[in-house]
Amino acid sequence: MKTIIEETYEGMSRMAARIVADEIRKKPDMVLGLATGGTPLGMYKELIRIHKQEGLDFSRVITFNLDEYYGLSPDNEQSYHYYMYENFFKHINIKPENIHIPDGTVEDINEFCEEYDREIQRVGGIDLQVLGIGRNGHIGFNEPGDELITETHVTTLTEETRIANARFFGKLENVPEKAVTMGLGTIMKAKKILLLASGREKAGIMSELLSDTNVTTKVPASFLHLHPDTTVIMDRDSAMELLAKKL
Ligand code: F6R
Repeated sequence: MKTIIEETYEGMSRMAARIVADEIRKKPDMVLGLATGGTPLGMYKELIRIHKQEGLDFSRVITFNLDEYYGLSPDNEQSYHYYMYENFFKHINIKPENIHIPDGTVEDINEFCEEYDREIQRVGGIDLQVLGIGRNGHIGFNEPGDELITETHVTTLTEETRIANARFFGKLENVPEKAVTMGLGTIMKAKKILLLASGREKAGIMSELLSDTNVTTKVPASFLHLHPDTTVIMDRDSAMELLAKKL
């Protein structure tokens, strides 16, 4: 795993956007895996700037989002659908038919999940997957546990994750208990992975993740140690404990 530490959140965001933009320029019809949450917001802002000022072309890019809350309809302001359109898609020239986000409202959710993985394969697999990380080490919504599920599936969010995300919902009771997420195998099949971490609240997990190369289902992100092309980009706050250990 290659690790890059940037001084600030803005620096981390610019570096991430530059890597994504370079990949799109190299392969204009690339398949891009995307994350939501607080961490990638700066990267989306910078990608929008590159699109507007430098003409980065998204017209042939195909995207697949990692996850969505179960039961939230796409027009719900807390849904990841809504987040993606507001913070990214409506500002760039991506084609709506090239956007894929799990739908947490379909009746046959298991069939939907299987089809999501099939669709990823049909377009040739994910070229670059952007990830954030939960304080408990989750990636997508693959939460720590005794086992991890490989395919896209419905999962139950941990209390810790619901508390962390309550900031977007006003109060904890409003945070859905379930989500649809790409599985660990879906993520690991991406040709290239970019893991972003920012802020002091991620310092503990980043230190745990990067202090050794062991793999455990208790820290789902640790499986990235087995991936041949993963780059971690952190800001200094999230690298604090790791750097303190190394001194
Ligand atoms: C979001 C996702 C989650 C987040 C993680 C960190 O699509 O898959 O794994 O990346 O919960 O969230 P933030 O960035 O809000 O700290």
